[in-house]
Amino acid sequence: MERLTEFIRRKAGRNLISLETVDSTNTLAMELGEKDAIHGTVVIADSQKKGKGRLGRVWVSPPSVNIYMSVILRPVMKLTDGTLLTIMAAVACCRALRDATGLQVTIKWPNDLMVADKKLGGILTETKSRGERIVFAVIGTGININSGRKDFPPDVRETATSVKIETSEEYSRAVLIAGILDKMEYWYGILFEKGRKPVLQEWRNLTSTLGRDVKVTVGEKTFVGIAEDVDDEGMLLLNLHTGGVRRIAAGDLTVLR
Ligand code: BTN
Repeated sequence: MERLTEFIRRKAGRNLISLETVDSTNTLAMELGEKDAIHGTVVIADSQKKGKGRLGRVWVSPPSVNIYMSVILRPVMKLTDGTLLTIMAAVACCRALRDATGLQVTIKWPNDLMVADKKLGGILTETKSRGERIVFAVIGTGININSGRKDFPPDVRETATSVKIETSEEYSRAVLIAGILDKMEYWYGILFEKGRKPVLQEWRNLTSTLGRDVKVTVGEKTFVGIAEDVDDEGMLLLNLHTGGVRRIAAGDLTVLR
């Protein structure tokens, strides 16, 4: 990874662990969290051998092209508010990528980073809790930067994209990581100083999901309706075509129209 520390100006990332390869930056960050790694510790790898996606999926993580990063946070927070950390991270990544690349990056609920209808990146948050409270959280971010179409496994080749595919330019991962950490520190500060409302509002400004006709799969069940809003805990409020409103914590969302 290129001269990363040169670009990191803020507190987040001062404790930086940068590795050639690892099973999963999230798994390592969870282990370090158990060992009292400080708030803001960042784990980055050039490649992952067992990258983890949401809902138990694999996150294919080839070397030298993309961002695989996990940030350890120690918020004073109820477990039920944990989704706000993911919302905050999605806002930070989306803003940082827009600033650096000029791409119209949007957020698809809950935390996919999209360019038009293609997935540019995703966020996997894992938490350790005690009773009702979060002890620490790991925010894992995977963003496709310089990967070409052939770097994607066949099953996602039509639905995934990268900054390079979209702009025809190569970007420095180090500069982008620094930009994301900068924005994460800013939005984390807003969340704890000003509360959840401005963070949720910024998420609404950046999402391409609200107002759309969507299908959401939650385990074995599928719900279809209009994505109305997110509530104060970041849950999706789905106005069901069959009537009524369904509050959804996590699931797989497809935009229908
Ligand atoms: C998703 O499924 O959309 C979330 C993908 C998250 C991938 C990142 S890459 C860095 C971190 N380590 C992992 O194993 N997963 C996350």
